[in-house]
Amino acid sequence: MISRNDPCWCGSTKKWKKCHYPQKAPLTTFSEKAALYKKRYNILLKTEKQIEGIRASCKLSAQILKELCAIAKAGVTTAEINKLALKLNKEAGATAATLGYGDPPFPAAICTSLNDVICHGIPDDKPLQNGDILNIDTTSILNGYYGDCSAMVEIGEVSAERKLVVDVSKKCLDAAIAIVKPGVAICKIGDVIEDTAASYGCSVVYQFVAHGVGIKFHEEPQVCHHRNNLQIPLEEGMTFTIEPMINAGLKEAVIDEKDGWTARTIDGRASGQWEHTLLVTKDGVEILTMP
Ligand code: MF3
Ligand code: CO
Ligand code: CO
Repeated sequence: MISRNDPCWCGSTKKWKKCHYPQKAPLTTFSEKAALYKKRYNILLKTEKQIEGIRASCKLSAQILKELCAIAKAGVTTAEINKLALKLNKEAGATAATLGYGDPPFPAAICTSLNDVICHGIPDDKPLQNGDILNIDTTSILNGYYGDCSAMVEIGEVSAERKLVVDVSKKCLDAAIAIVKPGVAICKIGDVIEDTAASYGCSVVYQFVAHGVGIKFHEEPQVCHHRNNLQIPLEEGMTFTIEPMINAGLKEAVIDEKDGWTARTIDGRASGQWEHTLLVTKDGVEILTMP
């Protein structure tokens, strides 16, 4: 009888176990899949109970984001928007995940990224002006679960270039969400976003990525918006963000040396971003950060 380590009968010179050895039956139960994803990729597939908690935190984040966007008008400062974020989290019994996060500790409850700022802008006392575009990014922690989302606001009349990145970054997010279902390789998300951005003459930021989220702020996997080769198949129970950062000009970012956070386009041209937290379902996707 041929053993698993013998050469395969087919003459390939490979071991039988690496060649024509009968495949295992596909994994079926949740706990088998969850164990495999943890071991192979360090990805947490969420249980029903965890999904309920993440759903609630995502719903809150989306509701807060809507209220923050509603007050973003000419004359209002991003510090005032930050203050409202603190208040709304507190009222809901939640906390803001960004406050004190990272190194150096992020100093605010939200990120506010204006015009040429790609991401991680810090709220300040400068009033918003007619013509600005602003990304507000908010992450709530509710009962230990995380929900992460962001959106763009146009302040009054904005230039064609600024309007372009607002619209194209939203189209990129929507197109990427549309392909999410079990079995699709994570790198397909980057393909869709690159193709969409290129069709409007825009570039895709590659120095910041999307991420697993839910039990922690930033979990595995890293989800790249640029073209890549990450072959991990999406699986039911994964919760992660898609948050494409789309530039009108060059794709490179430069981080502010003084604050250690603010990431700007290298050429000073406009950048846009939208973000949702998603759940991979049995046959598709649920957008968890819908208000
Ligand atoms: N919310 C951002 C994200 O989408 C992360 C912000 S980290 C911070 O992943 F420290 F800058 F706030
Ligand atoms: Co995120
Ligand atoms: Co975010």
